[in-house]
Order: sequence, then C-alpha cells, then structure tokens
Amino acid sequence: MNKVMKSKKICVLGGGNIGLAIVNGLLNSKLSVPKDVYVTRRNVEGLAEYKSKGLQVTAQNTIAVKNSQIVILAVQPRQLDELLDEISPVVNPKNQIIISVVSGATISAMKKRLPEGTSVVRAMPNTAIAIRESMTCLAGSGDSTDALKVAESIFNAVGQTLIIKEELMVPATALCACGIAFFLRAVRAASQGGIEIGFHSEEALMMAAQTAKGAATLLLALGNHPENEVDKVTTPRGCTISGLNQMEHSGFSSAMIKGIITSADKAAILYSNKD
Ligand SMILES: NC(=O)c1ccc[n+]([C@@H]2O[C@H](COP(=O)([O-])OP(=O)(O)OC[C@H]3O[C@@H](n4cnc5c(N)ncnc54)[C@H](OP(=O)(O)O)[C@@H]3O)[C@@H](O)[C@H]2O)c1
Repeated sequence: MNKVMKSKKICVLGGGNIGLAIVNGLLNSKLSVPKDVYVTRRNVEGLAEYKSKGLQVTAQNTIAVKNSQIVILAVQPRQLDELLDEISPVVNPKNQIIISVVSGATISAMKKRLPEGTSVVRAMPNTAIAIRESMTCLAGSGDSTDALKVAESIFNAVGQTLIIKEELMVPATALCACGIAFFLRAVRAASQGGIEIGFHSEEALMMAAQTAKGAATLLLALGNHPENEVDKVTTPRGCTISGLNQMEHSGFSSAMIKGIITSADKAAILYSNKD
C-alpha cells in the first residue's frame, strides 16, 4: 500500500459514474482495501454490488465522513451545496482533507460552507480511472500544499496527474473528463467505417480501439508531436493522406476544437447555474 494511504480511510460521497470509477481505481491499484472505503448515495440499493464486495456502503454522508481522513466529493454541481452543508458539522480540518471532482465549484465557494481551515483540493479525473488510466488535473489553493501532495499521490496510482492553476480546471474538464467521450465517439466512427469496408462489427471495434490505443501510446512513449507520426504514415499520393484530407474537408479537426470549446463554456456555468 502507498505510504500516503497507509491505514487511511477514504470516503466517496456520491457513488455515481465517476464516484464508482474512482472507487474501482482505488481497489484495482490496491491503494485501499474494501473495508477502508466508504461510498454513499441516497439510493443505496444502487450500490449493492459494492456492499457485497466488502465496501462500507451507506446513505449517511456524516457517518462516512466521521470515519474517513480523505473525503472525495463526487455529486453533481447542483447537489453540492446541500451535501457540504450536511457534512460541514462533522468535518475536522485538523485530520481531514476534502477532494472535490465537482465541475465548476471553486475552492473558495466550497470553503465558505466548511469549517475554517479545511484543506480543499480540486481534482478532474476521467472514467478511465477505473482501470488506472485516468488523466487527472489537480489544483489547490495557497493553504492546501500538503493536501495537494496527498491528492497527487492518490491520483498518480490510478493514471497520470498534472497540477494546474485553479482557473484552468474548467478547461481541464472539457479536455480530459468530457474528452473521454470525444475519443470514444471517434473510435465508434472508425469502427463504423470499418464495417462499411468489410469487417464484422466486433472485429471493426477491436481493430479501431487497438489502433487508437497504439496512436496514443506512440505519443506518450515517444513524446513526439502527432504530425511527426502522421508524416510517417502519409506516403505521397497515398491512401492515408487522401482519407485524412477528406476528413479535414468535412471539418474533422474543426469539429473537435469546436466541441471542446462548447464543453468548456458549458462546464464554466454548471455550478453557478445550479439553481
Ligand atoms: N462522469 C464523469 O466522467 C466525470 C468526470 C470528472 C468529474 N465529474 C464530475 O463528477 C460529478 C458527478 O458526476 P457523475 O457523472 O458521476 O454524476 P452521477 O452519475 O449523477 O453521480 C452522482 C451521484 O451522486 C449521488 N448523490 C446525489 N446527491 C447525493 C447526496 N446528497 N449524498 C450522497 N450521494 C448523492 C447520486 O445518487 P443518488 O441520487 O442515489 O443519491 C449519484 O449516484 C459531477 O460534478 C461531474 O461534473 C464527472
């Protein structure tokens, strides 16, 4: 077990899509053992599978917080204020840190609802955290250096991390958290193309997904710019450049850029528009 997590209990308040992906990452990385992980939601029947695996499942956020040193907030932006008000009376700033993955909620807004001196860190993982392949951006404030180190240590065990300025957390939501869906849709589109040129759907999907994984791994392993790798595939007058240019004529890069900007604009108002 990693030193930071040794004998520490952790709770994930909001066992939905990302909350459970985090839980799975914690268990898969062996950062935590099931009995040391609390996971909550109001409709606990939805967590039966986790209860049977030995996790502490409850609808009572205050019990989960009282028993944990690390508190992860994973509810939707409109559900956050009520949750903070509920747990605030039992938060102990001396031996607890709060990590929020809630899009758009600033550290200062959360601190206003928590006891003075509470360390709050923001994290923006993506659902690949479940298989320890998340890209997680982290941000803290001046008084949360130690908490940021703890968060970094946790999220490094379930993927890659990058510490960024807090004002970049909303753009990070669009690029990394929403980004998973953008790349998944690109893989789906490639597999649909594959079916049209002769492959069965499951073959086409596996071929497209492994090709996407290879492309991403080339960039991460070699540190090259994508165009360096594209140049290696595009023979003059060849089939790759014909296909690529056809995609660009149809707005491929532009569609991705516009989508990311639109998601960032939406992410920026999720918390402020909560009412
Ligand atoms: N999905 C992603 O890929 C992703 C990535 C990064 C960040 N985020 C952020 O993570 C947050 C959650 O997103 P999500 O997609 O996981 O949403 P979600 O699937 O709707 O999960 C939210 C969960 O919170 C529970 N919940 C609501 N109020 C609660 C309360 N008072 N106490 C305990 N649990 C409560 C809900 O269950 P009940 O209704 O049963 O209570 C639900 O299971 C959002 O702020 C989002 O911006 C999401």
